[in-house]
Amino acid sequence: MSDILVHTEAGITTLTFNRPDKKNSITAAMYGALADAVAAAAADPAVRVLVFQGHETTFSAGNDIGDFLNNPPATEDSPVFRFLRGIAQFPKPLLAAVCGPAVGIGTTLLFHCDLVYAGDNAAFSMPFVNLGLCPEAASSLLVPQMLGYHRAAEALLLGEPFMAEAALEVGLVNRVLPPSEVTGYAQSVARKLAAKPLASLVETKRLMKKGNAALVMATMAEEGASFGRMLGEPAAREAFGAFMERRKPDFSKL
Ligand code: COA
Repeated sequence: MSDILVHTEAGITTLTFNRPDKKNSITAAMYGALADAVAAAAADPAVRVLVFQGHETTFSAGNDIGDFLNNPPATEDSPVFRFLRGIAQFPKPLLAAVCGPAVGIGTTLLFHCDLVYAGDNAAFSMPFVNLGLCPEAASSLLVPQMLGYHRAAEALLLGEPFMAEAALEVGLVNRVLPPSEVTGYAQSVARKLAAKPLASLVETKRLMKKGNAALVMATMAEEGASFGRMLGEPAAREAFGAFMERRKPDFSKL
């Protein structure tokens, strides 16, 4: 079975992270599949809504750390960057159903979604600093915009998880539900959207996003350059090595 499931029905494309044994962490090959599916959904006039989901216990543990070390994104056309540009520029409604851990890109992709539904077990985290890295997916812009600077500093400098209720309070999440109801609820909202006139949805989204659009793309490119450089530096090597060896990283000399 594929690590990314793509299912299109009644105008709704649903992308499911499906690598439960590795907590739905995302490899370069998975980013490639995601980028292709997002581009296809954007281009297909029969698709009106795109939904991301994981499983009841896990949304995604973010980048696959081993794969990231072995296949770091080297150019702007790397699968991860293609995926990020795809979701940032996706013209139609983008929804997410999130349960369990949503780490790194598992959280930052949500800032590009129009509607987010979370299980009461959802735990969001952006531990880039703890990994010797910096934010990606324009999160250095979008997190302060949504959370306010000081809460963004807590989320991005400390990198500590925050739970569904806190995400609801700051507006990252539209509604918190029991985990067993999240994907069903997201699909019911997707069906409501799919019944509306597509051109109106697309134009309304474009108008809501246009003030930020150029800045989002510029921020994403700047972050990508820094992130790529920092992946090869000692702090990231120490953090990733520590994860693989199941020990605490030691940044005392870095
Ligand atoms: N990359 C690669 N493998 C990962 C992974 C990741 N990001 N996250 C989890 N896994 C693997 C673990 O190595 C483990 O593999 P194994 O069974 O072969 O040993 C398996 O998934 C289960 O993970 P485990 O840590 O035992 O699950 P947990 O329920 O205790 O914790 C998380 C879940 C998501 C909180 C924890 O796995 C975690 O913090 N992962 C790293 C997240 C991260 O830093 N992502 C990078 C963001 S840029």
